[in-house]
Amino acid sequence: MKLTLKVWRQNGPKEKGKIATYQVDDISEDMSFLEMMDVLNNELIEKGEDPVAFDHDCREGICGACSMFINGEAHGPGRGITTCQLHMRSFNDGDTIYIEPWRAAAFPIIKDLVVNRSAFDRIIQSGGFISVNTSGNTLDANAIPIPKSDADAAFDAATCIGCGACVATCKNSSAMLFTSAKISQLSLLPQGKPEAKERVVNMVKQMDLEGFGNCTNTGACAVECPKGISLENVARMNREFLLASTTKS
Ligand code: SF4
Ligand code: FES
Repeated sequence: MKLTLKVWRQNGPKEKGKIATYQVDDISEDMSFLEMMDVLNNELIEKGEDPVAFDHDCREGICGACSMFINGEAHGPGRGITTCQLHMRSFNDGDTIYIEPWRAAAFPIIKDLVVNRSAFDRIIQSGGFISVNTSGNTLDANAIPIPKSDADAAFDAATCIGCGACVATCKNSSAMLFTSAKISQLSLLPQGKPEAKERVVNMVKQMDLEGFGNCTNTGACAVECPKGISLENVARMNREFLLASTTKS
């Protein structure tokens, strides 16, 4: 395949960025999108040019690092996959592909396609944990019976990989799908109940402090989420927040 790539290049957070055009040849349809980017970067390095900076780690849909906006969609065409799971067979010979970073005020660009997603880390630090007695007499987790529907919903919420596609897709740059998943995975289980009120208040407060927008129920986040995180989590977070704000702990 021969492709024309229109790639966002930006030297640093305060620099002005622009779209640069590159041609790549001999791209196999069996390559992943990131392998195609590797081909581009090898060619740039051989020509003495600066390779395109992009985030990646696991390359198997687990870490959430490969944040790219491809042809106007977070993680490109296809549903339920990350950029590293996208294959070039999704494109046609002669295609022009636009590749841009996540765009959100709370995710400032570091370089080219790499954005700073540490706002997500600070949201988790503000409440995404449970306090456990680890002095040696910790209760075995399996000793507490949990309804299967709750366990399944908690597990589904826990599949969020923190990629940020929800924020990049949302017209308000809202982080409510992400935050609600991190809250739900704990609050649905007995182990997460004691700190549930404090958790939801603190995590929502941190989310707002980071500059993410609010939710207007468009639902684009859930459509583009590679892990199928449900909007039910946002509804649960709103209910928990209302309850925690209007009752004493
Ligand atoms: S909710 Fe989905 S899109 Fe948002 S960070 Fe988690 S996995 Fe990514
Ligand atoms: S590189 Fe880890 S999810 Fe894509």
